[in-house]
Amino acid sequence: MKYLIAANWKMNKTVADTLEYLELFLPSVKDLFEIEIMIAPPFTALSSASIKLDTAKKEGEYNVKLGAQNMYYEEKGAFTGEISPLMLNELQVDYVILGHSERRHIFGEKDELINKKMFSAIEHGLRPILCVGETLEERELGKTLNVVEAQIRKALAGIEKDMQFLDIAYEPVWAIGTGKNATPGQAEEVHKFIRSLINEMSKGNDDKTRILYGGSVNENNAGDLIKQPNVNGFLVGSASLDPERFYKIITKVLEV
Ligand code: 13P
Repeated sequence: MKYLIAANWKMNKTVADTLEYLELFLPSVKDLFEIEIMIAPPFTALSSASIKLDTAKKEGEYNVKLGAQNMYYEEKGAFTGEISPLMLNELQVDYVILGHSERRHIFGEKDELINKKMFSAIEHGLRPILCVGETLEERELGKTLNVVEAQIRKALAGIEKDMQFLDIAYEPVWAIGTGKNATPGQAEEVHKFIRSLINEMSKGNDDKTRILYGGSVNENNAGDLIKQPNVNGFLVGSASLDPERFYKIITKVLEV
């Protein structure tokens, strides 16, 4: 299982910014195949990023994949403002982030909707990264593992057998964008729990499923977090917006 180091740019970067970033970033990860890298720009920059990656891959070897930050589950129709899996397929998108805490908390996405999106992504050959995580209040009440288990069971209801086609990101809500990351011990406790849960749910068919940590990952804490046995990569927000910082995180992972 290769580590996956993924950049979630959220609502940041125009097309011009994206191209400028890739111009700087791609040479640093040429011929780097020990790990997998994924970049999820906003929808408006996906097409340009896809063309840029395609051109780079004609000139050199890169293990850099493209991700979308969300999608709707239907293929087409009257769903104003939404993006379908077919539209992502056309742009050679590999990954789609689903159930991110910002989608859940700002846009009101529920587990049932996330479950439909998970089904649809897998059906269309997109690899979903399911995001789960507890709020600060839930952690303080000692409910972390219950919350994470419920989110995973509901999002994966009916697709337990397809576990090898998806990844999971544990992103404690209190650690996202706060500069307050989970300690390596806190992350490992939840990751270990998720591993045994998905192993049980899939009847052992989880050896390709990576469990990423997300929440204030940066070049200073990445080294200790990735040393945890059940941390299989990162989903990085703000520190991925700068190509040099994102590359530094990658170097920390390569040192392990
Ligand atoms: P930050 O790295 O900015 O905390 O964001 C994490 C995140 O939400 C990645 O999906």
